[in-house]
Amino acid sequence: MLQHFFGLFYLLAVSQLLSFTGSHADECPVQLNPQRVVVKYGGSVSVDCSTYVPHKGLGWEASVGVVPMTRDRLITWRVSELREWDIEPVCLINYNKEQCTVYLPVTIYKTPDSVSISTVNHNGPMMERNQYELQCDVLNVAPVQDLTVNWYKGQTLVDQTIFTDTIKTPVSKTSKLLIRPDRADDGAQYWCEAKLELGEEGPRPPPTAPSKTLNVEVYYKPKHSSSTETIYINEELTLNCTVKANPAPTYSWHSEHLKETISSSVLRSSTLSSGIYTCIATNSQGTDSKVFILKSTGGSRPTFWNVLIFSQLLVASRFIFLN
Ligand SMILES: *[C@@H]1O[C@H](CO)[C@@H](O)[C@H](O)[C@H]1NC(C)=O
Repeated sequence: MLQHFFGLFYLLAVSQLLSFTGSHADECPVQLNPQRVVVKYGGSVSVDCSTYVPHKGLGWEASVGVVPMTRDRLITWRVSELREWDIEPVCLINYNKEQCTVYLPVTIYKTPDSVSISTVNHNGPMMERNQYELQCDVLNVAPVQDLTVNWYKGQTLVDQTIFTDTIKTPVSKTSKLLIRPDRADDGAQYWCEAKLELGEEGPRPPPTAPSKTLNVEVYYKPKHSSSTETIYINEELTLNCTVKANPAPTYSWHSEHLKETISSSVLRSSTLSSGIYTCIATNSQGTDSKVFILKSTGGSRPTFWNVLIFSQLLVASRFIFLN
């Protein structure tokens, strides 16, 4: 416990010392306002450098917008169309027989010329459970360090890519997304978006550029939710083999009671005699069969009316017996 206490005390002491030595940069008695800038390429910028101490010269040094040394208390670095990617403006002051400088961090950004989405090495419909690669191409963006590529499926964010290159000039970047579509993804819309997260000094909301949407078509084989079904012969009932599949399946019915195969997806039970009917649904991806067991209602199964009449008779007979 005591050890922890002294450990904490030590840490506090060290952090005090660090913050004290850390204030070294503040020894140069000039103030920049703002302290860092984010500028659109070709945009305008102005930053004040001021001092409250007597001095022998205050100036801005930069590849554009130089302000020669003056005796003023406040000077402004100003550029109306900034087109220098590697600009490093510095405010300098001559005082106490020395010169000191403060550097102004400048971020110059450029939104991409285009953002496009495509499928890598593939055309046309995708097969269920196969893996595919989507690609997002972001053309001429800066600084890539602040770029995020967001991947969306519909309105859902599914992936993000960030970039660590420190290059300041525009570059083109590619982000890839692996997908393994299933039947539920048929018709899904994928798209990507380039976003420049330029920090607090940057524009709000951050500049974004979306791609077009990529519609995914997925081929999948028919699959019935149950493989057998029992049906009683009835005017309104059908043997329904309809099943979802892409491409749309074809159907064929087989039974010893059918003289020929039937290719519709539905059979009316009232046109059939009892027995077993097998339906096969087929598309390019595979087949699935379903068995229908058709029973006649005249059999052993009691219907609501049978039960009702029987119970009424029972009551009536007891009544007669009691009398
Ligand atoms: C057969 O089933 C499908 C889907 O389950 C349904 O959309 C369709 O209306 C049904 N057809 C008949 C004639 O009942």
